[in-house]
Amino acid sequence: MFNRKDLLGLRELSELEIMTILETAQSMKDKIDNPAKRCQSLKQASIVTLFYENSTRTKMSFMLAGDYLGAMVKDLGVSTSSVNKGEGLIDTGINLDQMGINIMIIRHSMTGAAHILAKNVKANVINAGDGTNEHPTQALLDLYTIMEYKKRFEGLNVTILGDIAHSRVARSNVFGLTKLGANVTLAGPSTLVSNSMKSLGVKVSTNIQDAVSNADVVMGLRIQFERQKAMPFPNLREYSSLFGLNSDILKYAKEDVLVMHPGPVNRGVELSTEVADGKHSVINIQVKNGVAVRMAILKLLVERSI
Ligand code: CP
Repeated sequence: MFNRKDLLGLRELSELEIMTILETAQSMKDKIDNPAKRCQSLKQASIVTLFYENSTRTKMSFMLAGDYLGAMVKDLGVSTSSVNKGEGLIDTGINLDQMGINIMIIRHSMTGAAHILAKNVKANVINAGDGTNEHPTQALLDLYTIMEYKKRFEGLNVTILGDIAHSRVARSNVFGLTKLGANVTLAGPSTLVSNSMKSLGVKVSTNIQDAVSNADVVMGLRIQFERQKAMPFPNLREYSSLFGLNSDILKYAKEDVLVMHPGPVNRGVELSTEVADGKHSVINIQVKNGVAVRMAILKLLVERSI
């Protein structure tokens, strides 16, 4: 059941809509490694990526997801576009609408940018990350990966660790995980996680050992220096020793804990290399699942529109 023009956030999605996306992704996964399974089911769709912020995983996996389903996929190349001559977001979108684009995938530093675009264009809009607000497709691929390994969400203990304050990934995951019945703990230094986040139905901790104890899933997050003016802690070495996830801290989690990270990973800061590459890590699987989830989202949006 998915009947929306746009995918803007997990805050507004129902449990049923989230599960529809995850189940559709399941049917897409074999197209990634097996070119013979790829198809032309979206050959009538034209997709454009508009990334006002840098990306490796999200942009490339959306472009490949469209390719694997036979859509026409183009990148605006924001840094060489008329955005640099002062053209605004709405005018950019209206121009792309006129060129016959069906789906616009936007990443922007401004909270609400995807919502503004969606209100002003005929095309379906997918939020690929807006400021510190939401990154819904990252959370959906995280949910998919958790479901793949744990087979359930109800009662799972999920700890999200790091720069919570500036993380759209954390917010989207909190909306999704709490709707699906998981117990979420947000942890980090007091400069990067606030008690006010308890209003989202989560626990908040500034003690990494407490936060990781009995966890089924630990998700590390990068410190987003680009979104803050002052250093939120004295230096990286101190941050890493107090809040970095290493194999000694991971021993407090359950034996079959999953270690996740949306990427890019700053090795030796939020995760030790030993943990990032260790037996509990599903970080590379998350990347693969991102393609399947994004194929599912494109398919559901196109089926609704055509
Ligand atoms: N996780 C994520 O959004 O990665 P990119 O910034 O590389 O897209």
